[in-house]
Amino acid sequence: MLLSEKIAEDLPSDMKIVFYDKTDSTNTRAKEYARGKEKIEPTLFIAASQSDGRGRLGRSFSSDEGGIYMSLLMPPLPIDPMEITCRGAVAVCLCLERLYGLGVGIKWVNDIYVNGKKLAGILTEGTFDENGNLSYFVVGMGINVYKNTDLTTNLPIATTIEDVLSKRVDINELAATLAVSIADISSLESPVSEYRKRCITVGKRVTVIGYNDSYPARCIGVEDDYSLTVRRESDGELIRVFTGEVSVRLAD
Ligand code: BTN
Repeated sequence: MLLSEKIAEDLPSDMKIVFYDKTDSTNTRAKEYARGKEKIEPTLFIAASQSDGRGRLGRSFSSDEGGIYMSLLMPPLPIDPMEITCRGAVAVCLCLERLYGLGVGIKWVNDIYVNGKKLAGILTEGTFDENGNLSYFVVGMGINVYKNTDLTTNLPIATTIEDVLSKRVDINELAATLAVSIADISSLESPVSEYRKRCITVGKRVTVIGYNDSYPARCIGVEDDYSLTVRRESDGELIRVFTGEVSVRLAD
């Protein structure tokens, strides 16, 4: 079971954390906490379960007990929100590789996959002031840890660490390790090359789903700004795809 005191034991003593047994969404809690504050201090919000876990593009994120749901509230950084999401994805991969030797992949832009199934997701949200400057941002991360037959039956694309490793891991140790890595994402070294190495979307056929149209394409690569270059199948045109505009679905 996810326990605040166990997680806190492993965290730097100056790291501010707010823990919930259950809340609606740690991203929502972080944004509410930040509202109206002049100075944002990095603060981590962690929940053992969420009633309204949110994913990208308005999707929900299943958040029963047995997973880790955390959001880091940060003051603005000179880093694009899409890059923050990608850095968050790299940080999660590095943790899972170091702790469990898992072979982890990233489905562009924010989904963490193992053995063809989704294990974790990242959602970055920011708020802008009246001058269009970022006031703060929140990077949220959800990871399925313990076996959850409701989740994996209802969402066959989902998996858990326990399913992948066939053993129960220490959820508090994992939460603390993830917390430290997420808190450090602004100093990750050469994250785009680490991201590219793990991006399972590259080379695959994809369906690019935009606001007004969708089309089949082949994914060519991840650019330095983390956008995706795809070759549209109908006319061979090379197109840059940015998150927020589109969803990219693996087609084979
Ligand atoms: C996705 O799969 O599209 C992203 C999922 C992000 C889920 C995490 S769980 C902690 C934080 N709180 C939320 O409501 N969402 C993020």
